[in-house]
Amino acid sequence: MSFLPKPHGGKLINSYRPNFDYSDIAKELEIDSIALSDLELIGVGVFSPLTGFLGQKDYESVVSRMRLADDTIWSIPVNLPVSQEFAANLAVGEKIKLKHKDVVYGVIEVSEWYEPNLQKEAVEVYKTDELAHPGVKRLFERGPVYVAGDVTLVKKPEKGVFGDVWFEPKDIRVLFEEKGWKTVVGFQTRNPIHRAHEYIQKAALETVDGLFVNPLVGETKSDDIPADVRLKSYRALLDNYYPSDRVQLGVHPAAMRYAGPREAIFHALARKNYGCTHFIVGRDHAGVGNYYGTYDAQYIFSNFTEQELGIKPLFFEHSFYCTKCEGMASDKTCPHGKEDRVILSGTKVREMLRAGELPPSTFSRKEVVEVLIEGLREKAHA
Ligand code: ADX
Repeated sequence: MSFLPKPHGGKLINSYRPNFDYSDIAKELEIDSIALSDLELIGVGVFSPLTGFLGQKDYESVVSRMRLADDTIWSIPVNLPVSQEFAANLAVGEKIKLKHKDVVYGVIEVSEWYEPNLQKEAVEVYKTDELAHPGVKRLFERGPVYVAGDVTLVKKPEKGVFGDVWFEPKDIRVLFEEKGWKTVVGFQTRNPIHRAHEYIQKAALETVDGLFVNPLVGETKSDDIPADVRLKSYRALLDNYYPSDRVQLGVHPAAMRYAGPREAIFHALARKNYGCTHFIVGRDHAGVGNYYGTYDAQYIFSNFTEQELGIKPLFFEHSFYCTKCEGMASDKTCPHGKEDRVILSGTKVREMLRAGELPPSTFSRKEVVEVLIEGLREKAHA
């Protein structure tokens, strides 16, 4: 008997068909790297219960009430955008090859197409229509027509350096079972893991059987640290500071939306599909700039019961190293003032790393910093 949660919607979707014969399908569509990652995530079940790109009814329902039309919780629309010209020649029921850089990865069977209200999508999902927001900018750039329909994944994208840490839900679930973990906490990040991340991960791990460190490695904004460099830093951190029998590293190949609260729900549901029973939500989860309140991504969970979500969020306060406490702490546990706290913004840290400067070990482990500086230096000279 499995202790892991049932996939969202009850069943793990698997629409990977490597032998699918698409030789008689003439029409093709070049898709961007976000759509390619969505296609794969649908195909291997990370986005269960989605079986394809959203139809209009589901799309509008997700945008306005964070649920699919059948009431299943779903907080971020997953869509396949095309141009007006391409949409002008579509037919219901036709199959189209989905290509990226001239390689066919999937096939969509068109059920409908529609013009989304992008303004509404921006304001409801991202809470802003400002183009300075990277998710909103991408939303408007991708527009203007969405094609819907079930997809078949015919080829999985190459995994490159991520090969040994790229798990599909069906495989990672088996791994968790083999380890005998009945409770697993998932951790999302798009950044290197600093001391505050480590602190909340380990605090969570104190109460469960295993920790799934699950960094997002799909498309991120250009000033975020590249995923391959981050991967080296995760390995360095885990090798030096984490017990290998309690911690599993695996990457999450989704694109970052920067949708803050809505994306926290989306992240949690994906981790439930990977088999996690718990999910960490700290300060400004999936946020960018000042678009969201520090704890908005925690408050949003109160819209749903834990039973309906099927994964338990674990909330953490803003954490930092306190020089008076001589340890990691948060407002909840530390009585000291600002002047005693080591707090650096993400932007500041990225600037330091790019300049080859070491953030203090109270902020980030030495082994992590060294790997990051080296990795960024190599990129700069590549
Ligand atoms: S993101 O994917 O959520 O954008 P990020 O690396 O910023 O990535 O954060 C990963 C997780 O750690 C999120 O749940 C976030 O809320 C939490 N987090 C990041 N920094 C802190 C901090 N200093 N204190 C508490 N939680 C934090």
